[in-house]
Amino acid sequence: MSSQKYIYYHGIPMPSEAHNTESLEYARNFSVEDTDVFAVTYPKSGTVWMQEILPLLLNGGDTTPIKTIPNWDRVPWLEEKRLAIVVDKLSSPRAMVTHFPYHLMPESFHTSKAKVINVMRNPKDVLVSSYFFHQMAKFLDDPGTFDEFMDTFLEGKVLFGKWTDHVKGWKSAELGNRIMYITYEEMVQDLPAALRRMADFLDRNLSEEVIQKIAQHCSFGKMKTNDMSNFSLVPKQYMDPDKSPFLRKGVAGDWKNHFSSEQLAKFTKAIRAEMESEGFSLPWSLD
Ligand code: A3P
Repeated sequence: MSSQKYIYYHGIPMPSEAHNTESLEYARNFSVEDTDVFAVTYPKSGTVWMQEILPLLLNGGDTTPIKTIPNWDRVPWLEEKRLAIVVDKLSSPRAMVTHFPYHLMPESFHTSKAKVINVMRNPKDVLVSSYFFHQMAKFLDDPGTFDEFMDTFLEGKVLFGKWTDHVKGWKSAELGNRIMYITYEEMVQDLPAALRRMADFLDRNLSEEVIQKIAQHCSFGKMKTNDMSNFSLVPKQYMDPDKSPFLRKGVAGDWKNHFSSEQLAKFTKAIRAEMESEGFSLPWSLD
């Protein structure tokens, strides 16, 4: 991996564009509040979607934040440089996202009552989404061919390391009823149902009307036209939507358009070896 494009923190590569030693130490020493809510994701699993969903769930469907504040300041990444800049503007309950592995979460997180929604996505679609993301995000390494990128991904030489390590760490987190697990696929299949589950978890009693309104505002089509959420505010030299839009397809199962049968066999074998053989079950069939 290109040494200038990534900073290694506890052995895990993170893009230098958004992270530096100060931001990572700031995150580690961050003072987590009991009312904080974190959406935890491996990259390309629905992070930006959660940046749309969380404010609406927490404020009862008021669309002001999603219409006026860019997603990275509205629900900042715990580990990114922006957090220190916007932290004082966050209103309680604060919502944040993070790609941190479980073992890097701040000390104060563990002693707090802060809640976590962990969104997992089928790794085959994560790989495809990441492949296109690496083409448009100029601050990441060029992915090469899809075949080459599959190897890079399986070796964990990508932002935030191996998918399997991230998922295993969070799946074994001992957080009791402070953590809720959901999949990107469940959200795609029935967003209102997913929102109801999240609202219950966050102790928000929302009417069906509000749930439907939130679902509408968080639809792929609506987010694609929301300049506060579609990354159109980012200069082209960092993210080039002509290569691939950030909000690219928003579906489950796009991997079928990209995997050969040989690639599927290789990918499945590698993921299985690191998950199922270690007793971790997955919510999707890998075949
Ligand atoms: P695709 O590239 O498959 O389209 P992240 O925010 O973690 O980087 O994840 C990005 C992925 O989530 C992209 O997947 C993006 O399109 C998808 N996504 C974002 N908002 C979505 C929405 N409202 N509905 C469905 N998918 C969404």
